[in-house]
Amino acid sequence: MTFLNLKYPILQAPMGSIDSTILAASVSNAGGMGSLALTWTEPDVAADRVQKLRAETANFFFVNFVLSFPPKALEAVLEAGTPAVTFSWGQPGQLVKRIHQFGAQVGVQVGTVDGAKQALDSEVDFIICQGVEAGGHVQSTTPLSELLPKVVEIASSVPVVGTGGLTNGEDLAWALRQGARAMMLGTRFVATIESNAHPLYKQALVEAKSTDSVYTLCFDGGWPYAAHRVLRNRTLNEWETAGCPPSGQRPGEGEVTAEGSSGVLIKRYDDAPPVAKMEGHILECCMYAGTGCGRIVDIPEAAVLLSELWSEYKALTRTD
Ligand SMILES: Cc1cc2nc3c(=O)[nH]c(=O)nc-3n(C[C@H](O)[C@H](O)[C@H](O)COP(=O)(O)O)c2cc1C
Repeated sequence: MTFLNLKYPILQAPMGSIDSTILAASVSNAGGMGSLALTWTEPDVAADRVQKLRAETANFFFVNFVLSFPPKALEAVLEAGTPAVTFSWGQPGQLVKRIHQFGAQVGVQVGTVDGAKQALDSEVDFIICQGVEAGGHVQSTTPLSELLPKVVEIASSVPVVGTGGLTNGEDLAWALRQGARAMMLGTRFVATIESNAHPLYKQALVEAKSTDSVYTLCFDGGWPYAAHRVLRNRTLNEWETAGCPPSGQRPGEGEVTAEGSSGVLIKRYDDAPPVAKMEGHILECCMYAGTGCGRIVDIPEAAVLLSELWSEYKALTRTD
């Protein structure tokens, strides 16, 4: 049986301002598992998004909270009937019991074997094992190929989802061979029609080589001291050329790089990625990208992507 009875054992990673209700609904309706990142969303808005997503799909989805910040909308999304919650950058501890009271499942993204052990001790329903290849903020310092088999072993019967640098059907075949029950893709879903990323960011992913994905501390505005993986661009180059100086001494610090239609401003070292309809120096903003970006060649609809990934996987694993 596939993970949570999914048609495709593929999860869409929560992606801050880049994911969208439309993307999550498309992924879940097509047979994968969509998600919403709700860490920075006010409780009433978060509940509204969960209700809208429930109206758009009868299938499984999850919402995510990054525990470096208080999960302020957790109760609201439970009341709104989310079927699952995942956490990253921390351990949910007692929150697991609270979530189970609502009949929802709990997953935890970990970057170490110790993190996986702690999550298992709190009786989570599944583990997401992140490798250092991941786009976005990166908890892990270990390659997925090294970490995943160890986490699978200690997780025993608890399902493990592999994530970080994975992109295509070959990656799915690899992850399942390591004992994962599914893979989770972030960067690959940034480059889909339904994602909320700015078109220039999507196109930059299509054009990128895997070596353009850089693990850094450069874009720390909004979330300091948290390593992340982004596409190399002018902001990163100039900061590195200046010797990677700390906050307050960086080239172009405080400059506005992009502006949203509602007047939202992105400053040079902000961790906010460029979203649709922003204007300005889009390609100088923080464009999260895992090492799998070198294998992204198009910007399909999410449902088309899932079916193509599955066909690639089936072609590779056919035994007849
Ligand atoms: C644009 C973007 C935003 C992300 N935002 C979140 C987030 O809000 N919460 C979270 O747990 N992970 C977030 N991540 C990390 C993902 O959970 C996942 O670990 C990562 O995308 C996997 O690597 P990949 O991008 O190479 O597929 C984000 C990733 C990307 C690319």
